[in-house]
Amino acid sequence: MARYRYCCRLRNLLLCVCTPFCCLLLFFTYAAVTISMSLNVVSSRPQVQVTNKPEKANNVILPVIPATFWEHHSSAFWNQLQRAVDYHFNPILYSESRNRSAIVHLGDSLLNKSFFEVTSMGHMKKKLEELPPAMQKYVSHMQRRSYPVLIQPDRACGAKARREDQTPFILFAIKSSELNIKNRQAIRQTWGQVGWVQGQKNSSNKEEEKVGGYVRRVFLLGKDNSQFSSPDLTELLKAENRRYGDILQWDFEDTFFNLTLKDVLFWSWFSRNCGQTLFVFKGDDDVFVNTPKLISYLHGELKKPHAQTTMKEFMIGDVIGNAMPIRGETSKYFVPDSFYKGIYPSYAGGGGVVYSGHLARRLHHISKTVHLYPIDDVFVGMCMLRLNALPIHHPAFLTFDFSEKDIEQPCLYHTILLVHKRSPEELLRLWAELKKTQTQCRDVPLRAPVTKKISLEPPS
Ligand SMILES: *[C@@H]1O[C@H](CO)[C@@H](O)[C@H](O)[C@H]1NC(C)=O
Ligand SMILES: *[C@@H]1O[C@H](CO)[C@@H](O)[C@H](O)[C@H]1NC(C)=O
Ligand SMILES: *[C@@H]1O[C@H](CO)[C@@H](O)[C@H](O)[C@H]1NC(C)=O
Ligand SMILES: *[C@@H]1O[C@H](CO)[C@@H](O)[C@H](O)[C@H]1NC(C)=O
Repeated sequence: MARYRYCCRLRNLLLCVCTPFCCLLLFFTYAAVTISMSLNVVSSRPQVQVTNKPEKANNVILPVIPATFWEHHSSAFWNQLQRAVDYHFNPILYSESRNRSAIVHLGDSLLNKSFFEVTSMGHMKKKLEELPPAMQKYVSHMQRRSYPVLIQPDRACGAKARREDQTPFILFAIKSSELNIKNRQAIRQTWGQVGWVQGQKNSSNKEEEKVGGYVRRVFLLGKDNSQFSSPDLTELLKAENRRYGDILQWDFEDTFFNLTLKDVLFWSWFSRNCGQTLFVFKGDDDVFVNTPKLISYLHGELKKPHAQTTMKEFMIGDVIGNAMPIRGETSKYFVPDSFYKGIYPSYAGGGGVVYSGHLARRLHHISKTVHLYPIDDVFVGMCMLRLNALPIHHPAFLTFDFSEKDIEQPCLYHTILLVHKRSPEELLRLWAELKKTQTQCRDVPLRAPVTKKISLEPPS
């Protein structure tokens, strides 16, 4: 009995002493972390492991604190800018994040605010002055992403389909430039024809006559700033748009580094105008697309189990994983390490990529939490990572053309969905050829997909 009482007293004593002690310890740890983080928001780095799962609340997609592909501790210019934004989404380090939905809705101004805060600091001003001139020019406009529309289709969502009330199956959104009139014309006559397009039939799905879909088309343009352009070109473009209704032009300089603007502005336009469109093709105006096969392929994807779920993050193309920024100063992709440090996230080559309409709307939303990046397809990859989504690689997207030994193969163009790069004349010839061989090549399968395992982690 005495022994039992003794035990009891001991336990009470332990409880009385240990509980407050543990609480205090936890409190001090929390306080220490919080204080050290807020002391120097920009030069410190997060010590806390954060979730990698996308979270949802009130139908607002909250960004994932990314498995960082950029070097988080690096002092490179872009890295620092993005890190300042990331702090707003860290549930522990940033107190205002108690109302995260408010912050996501204010996305545009959040980027703007962080940009001016970070670039007004002394050491960042110095860093900016040390960037190459082309980069400095880029940075001077990189916080701006709203530009007036100069020309747009007058009917909803791209070129006039014969029956406007039908839900478009796929919208071709094609990056073009003012002068590429021939490219646009060839695309309109070949793989970019609008209206109902029949999918490629093979001998086993003869009864299934209805595999096809309504196609729409829009060309994405900025302003040409070359000495060749003249006011006449504007009139010409307006005439083109009156005839075909497929020109979407914004008032920014159509340069390589500005191509990312075509993505963010397109997503915004798409979200407003394209309602139920199932798929988006986004690519260059010098590619060849096997549209009938693409339509059949996408129908196949829709028939798969769990398609409802997979379509939320469906993106397919020529996926490049674990790429490093190009450091050769003569390349048009050159990005100095004072601007960006780290590997690139997996991204689908910008020559041609297909994604779901649902994903396009999610990208529009999430892009408000990522600073613009001068390489457009890499930027899309960054946004994908924030959605915790990965693009799927398919070998039928040939953004680097055929290899020598392929060329001999019969029915070559029936084995692919896209090939880069082809001139307007070649497009016309290839399209005619594709039509001519449709029956004899109908059972030729696409290049077999090999499931390329792409890791979110940088190689060690
Ligand atoms: C969060 O912000 C939104 C938009 O500003 C506001 O409507 C909502 O009431 C806020 N919620 C909380 C819990 O403060
Ligand atoms: C961005 O921030 C700057 C400085 O705080 C301000 O002058 C400018 O109007 C803001 N622009 C937008 C589009 O919010
Ligand atoms: C992008 O377009 C804007 C607006 O025309 C222009 O001021 C800026 O210099 C362009 N950026 C680059 C890197 O060409
Ligand atoms: C024929 O098409 C169907 C559906 O489009 C596909 O599942 C099947 O594999 C194809 N067969 C051949 C031989 O290509």
